[in-house]
Amino acid sequence: MELKTKTKEASLEHSLTGRDFLTLDDYNEEELSYLLQLATYLKNARKAGKNVQPLKGKTLGMIFEKSSTRTRVSFEVGIFQLGGTGLFLSKNDIQMGRGEPIADTAKVLSGYLDGIMIRTFSQAVVEELAENASIPVINGLTDTYHPCQVLADIQTIQEIKGGLKGVKIAYIGDGNNMANSLMLGSAVMGMDISVAAPTGYQPDPSITRKAISIANDHGSKVEVTSNPQIAVDQADVIYTDVWASMGQESEQMVREQLFSTYQVNRDLCSLAKKDAIFMHCLPAHRGEEVIAEIIDGKRSVVFQQAENRLHAQKALMLALMG
Ligand code: CP
Ligand code: NVA
Repeated sequence: MELKTKTKEASLEHSLTGRDFLTLDDYNEEELSYLLQLATYLKNARKAGKNVQPLKGKTLGMIFEKSSTRTRVSFEVGIFQLGGTGLFLSKNDIQMGRGEPIADTAKVLSGYLDGIMIRTFSQAVVEELAENASIPVINGLTDTYHPCQVLADIQTIQEIKGGLKGVKIAYIGDGNNMANSLMLGSAVMGMDISVAAPTGYQPDPSITRKAISIANDHGSKVEVTSNPQIAVDQADVIYTDVWASMGQESEQMVREQLFSTYQVNRDLCSLAKKDAIFMHCLPAHRGEEVIAEIIDGKRSVVFQQAENRLHAQKALMLALMG
């Protein structure tokens, strides 16, 4: 009842029920703000020891074609806390891993489940699954995007900085799924972002163009440079991610050489604002993209980010599957 009252106004305005969550630019600022508000409510309720279980009897299928600690555990625990059940579906254990068509898988699972979370390689697979499923599909990371992580990151920034407008994020390193989703999420929420990545490893130009166009409508700025010093200038948030993502393990050595001047270290951090925070989606490689002193230091909020995965995704499941 209390949940209903607290979010009644927002619920009336926002009908997210049944929607997919494939990329952040599918959602507008109002809808993301609503999800963040719900995430905060659920986080506070949890901290106060209150059980909020509006998804009783609902089941989330979780398809994993790549490894995971945070995504798997936070979704499974999240659906459980909301009163439902999570079903872990490893690619090795389901017929999709042996070539059963994605469309058939989507139609079959729609008859059993109330939502699907999928972590896979190609964004096209997630899109095909969503097109053929009659239940919400949530993108739990592809080679192109990681929207659930960025939703939790935005929640974290809001908690620490007290707001989002005017906040500048500096993303340093590989122009990967994290960079893409951070650009889109920042643009939608009116934050500035400067991505510093070496030539050849910068974000997909079509995604950058999309983020710039969204940012233009929100009075914010999206910039891509090869110079990390330029990116961190006046930054409120310094963000990095691994240099070799899942599926790029064979490029690890080459990438270590290529990205060596993109390490987040004391010198680089000293060029940002004095109260700048350090963020990383984890898992991290200390001594590569970030030195231990920074990720384990007082500017680091990486474990707050990780915890917020639980709260932000509970909000997402509630809004989409409720
Ligand atoms: N950040 C993140 O998605 O972590 P996992 O790969 O452990 O899920
Ligand atoms: N870019 C990383 C993020 C992991 C959460 C990867 O795709 O492996």
